[in-house]
Amino acid sequence: MALLSRLDWYDIARSTNWTPKHVTEDELFPPELSGSLGIPIQAWEQYDEPYKTTYPEYVKIQREKDAGAYSVKAALERNKLFEHADPGWLSTLKFHYGAIALGEYAASTAEARMMRFSKAPGMRNMASFGMMDEIRHAQLQLYFPHEHCAKNRQFDWAHKAYHSNDWAMIAARHFFDDMMMTHDAIGTSIMLTFAFETGFTNMQFLGLAADAAEAGDYTFSSLISSIQTDESRHAQIGGPVIDILVKNGRKEEAQRRLDVAFWRSWRLFSILTGPIMDYYTPLEHRKLSFKEFMLEWIVVQFERAILDLGLDKPWYWDSFMRDLDQTHHGMHMGVWFWRPTVWWMPRAGVSPEEREWLEAKYPGWSKTWGRPWDVITENILAGRMNLTYPETLPVVCNMCNLPILSVPGDGWSVKDFPLEHEGRTYHFCTEGDRWCFQQEPDRYKGHLTLVDRFLAGMIQPANLEGALKYMGLAPGEIGDDALNYKWAEAFRKEPKVA
Ligand SMILES: [Fe+2]
Ligand SMILES: [Fe+2]
Repeated sequence: MALLSRLDWYDIARSTNWTPKHVTEDELFPPELSGSLGIPIQAWEQYDEPYKTTYPEYVKIQREKDAGAYSVKAALERNKLFEHADPGWLSTLKFHYGAIALGEYAASTAEARMMRFSKAPGMRNMASFGMMDEIRHAQLQLYFPHEHCAKNRQFDWAHKAYHSNDWAMIAARHFFDDMMMTHDAIGTSIMLTFAFETGFTNMQFLGLAADAAEAGDYTFSSLISSIQTDESRHAQIGGPVIDILVKNGRKEEAQRRLDVAFWRSWRLFSILTGPIMDYYTPLEHRKLSFKEFMLEWIVVQFERAILDLGLDKPWYWDSFMRDLDQTHHGMHMGVWFWRPTVWWMPRAGVSPEEREWLEAKYPGWSKTWGRPWDVITENILAGRMNLTYPETLPVVCNMCNLPILSVPGDGWSVKDFPLEHEGRTYHFCTEGDRWCFQQEPDRYKGHLTLVDRFLAGMIQPANLEGALKYMGLAPGEIGDDALNYKWAEAFRKEPKVA
């Protein structure tokens, strides 16, 4: 018997809405979970997914992708990458796995909620595949680092990080819980798939795949390229949703969700991808600077996608563009300075050649970010190591949970963006972060940052030792300079007498 081609039966097979007789529509799709904003179900049935696939096709392709990634890993297992890799590259791996692996698993529940509660059958179909994608990503990114745990226990943080109170993970959880775990199906599709995955995961995964291949880590490169092919499919869930909202007079709601998620994604990526690309990746392996990646992947492509869908550029676009030159340099310096509080070895990335590169990519770097690094370098050379460590915690933002920072040098003008709400004073690092809070104060008001917890006496003893214990950092896991400070020697004027 001849089989129909996919196009002849696809539309009928995914027309899975019916008229409920035993429950009301609101009971079947509770508004707080579906988030359909009063738009009639017939309008949601117009949802047209740009990427069409069927279950047999999906399984066949996924099986091939998995076989490919696992066989590259098996083939290269004995190539001693771990022993020969630049320490900065190993730090990139540790940082990436900790920040991403279990977040992928959480994303599978976000996809599952879109699959259950969206009123759009086509969206439910795509989200079913998205859910399975994310489970695959979690499994891959837990399995791949596992072989390294025996050699270096910082790799154990691939699994441990999300279960800890490390400051970086408090920031990551606050963001991901907001964007993908606590919004309705429609909000999640805009925030997670459109704002976050279309732009930012593309950059982390494609950018890092390029750097990995340059660094000779073909296992990691094939792993994250394999993941990215799934992401670029299910990232398309949000576009048609925005289209339906705009056509049904709900542009403002779509815009607000986009603006919140985009700003929050930017803050997190400034600390995750920024340092990796501009400081950790060995100079000879860098393809583009972080800013160049951002301009190519986010500014050009994302801007076009937003405008094509009938939305506007977010109101903060100018300050976002300005921050591209600044934020991640400060985040990097902060991570290096507070290095005992992270599960990887921060690579300073400020040797004479690297500083030259930074100045070329970010004109003015030497007179701003370079100056505190001058002081740090002098202290290292003079053996005053105690001065290269912090004595206090930084002031962190009540939205992104990351340090409030400013550009050092002659123009130093650190600025706090405070807000009084129901008798509590909140501190924000930027106008964008304060604005996110103001959109839904009830959602955010109860959260305590690590510093709030410290001041509330929840961290004991109230010193670095207590903080490390609270963050779950055991000996052997605590971070230190990736190159053991050897990079500073290049700045020594008098050769060191042996
Ligand atoms: Fe994923
Ligand atoms: Fe995803």
